[in-house]
Amino acid sequence: MDGLREKYLSEIAAAKDEVALESVRLAALGKKGEISLAMQGLRDMEPEARKAAGAALNVVRDEVQSALAAAKSALADAALAERLKTEWLDVTLPPRPAPQGTIHPVSQVTEEVTAIFAELGFAVEEGPHIETDWHNFDALNIPAEHPTRTEMDTFYMARAEGDERPPHVLRTHTSPVQIRGMLKHGAPARFICPGRVYRADYDITHTPMFHQLEGLAIDRDVSMANLKWCLEEFCRAFFEVEGVELRFRASHFPFTEPSAEVDIRCSWAGGQLRIGSGMIHPNVLRAGGIDPELWQGFAFGMGIDRLAMLKYGIPDLRAFFDSDLRWLRHYGFAALDAPTAHGGLGA
Ligand code: DAH
Repeated sequence: MDGLREKYLSEIAAAKDEVALESVRLAALGKKGEISLAMQGLRDMEPEARKAAGAALNVVRDEVQSALAAAKSALADAALAERLKTEWLDVTLPPRPAPQGTIHPVSQVTEEVTAIFAELGFAVEEGPHIETDWHNFDALNIPAEHPTRTEMDTFYMARAEGDERPPHVLRTHTSPVQIRGMLKHGAPARFICPGRVYRADYDITHTPMFHQLEGLAIDRDVSMANLKWCLEEFCRAFFEVEGVELRFRASHFPFTEPSAEVDIRCSWAGGQLRIGSGMIHPNVLRAGGIDPELWQGFAFGMGIDRLAMLKYGIPDLRAFFDSDLRWLRHYGFAALDAPTAHGGLGA
């Protein structure tokens, strides 16, 4: 009995961790443990001897059991103390800064379309938001009495009393940038003009300020076929789906002849995108200082906000300009996710 006792008490004292301690417990008190087996052996003894041996074994068993329990809790305390040494936390430190700003979907989509058209060789042109009547209308073959002027719900700037010149306007489309680009660069030319435009209109799909993307290409023998290819290529890259369904429909714009509207069915977004386009009208080329006998070109215009709504499934245009932080956090893009044609264009 004494041997048994000494053996296990010293093994318990020597156990370095809870795993080692557990194997000592099994060796002594497990089903096949030495002390357990000894207790089972009592059955074969004479009653007198069994009584004495049984009592002594009980004492040994109790001693080993309580030594095990004491060692176990000592080891658990030591393990905890060790962990706490490495897992401390300085609660007086300020919190780590959470990313705060996001890129607005309009900015993101503007970057995306710019990247796509850059691949196709288009530069970027910009123009003023407060535009002359001439650039916004006349130069685009929209004379004073043309119905387009009233259809566009134009915001007019004020003129001084007695000044009879036509007032400046908040540009109603990005098309005046066509004229500015032509006057600046001459032909050949290939550029897009993304930017803000303004019309007095407000409902779920209209806001008084919105964004358009204009594009044009002028060269010696540009045709509707080039226009079609270019828009198809753009839609495939932008929506990142093969086999985009495009439908060209005869239409009318004062600044193009012939004119076509392109309907793009975005079944995945449950919506439709409409692109205005056509061959640049000779009068428009002339206004841009380009000889229509020598040059021809195509042009197109589309809504950037609409592109964003379709690609990213944003239902209400008005929310774009509410500056609601919850909306911006939900629909915004991380600042470092700059879109590139090679790196992926969003989503
Ligand atoms: N400027 C037109 C608008 O605001 C859009 C447009 C249509 C632009 C046809 C174009 C074009 O360049 O060729 O509704």
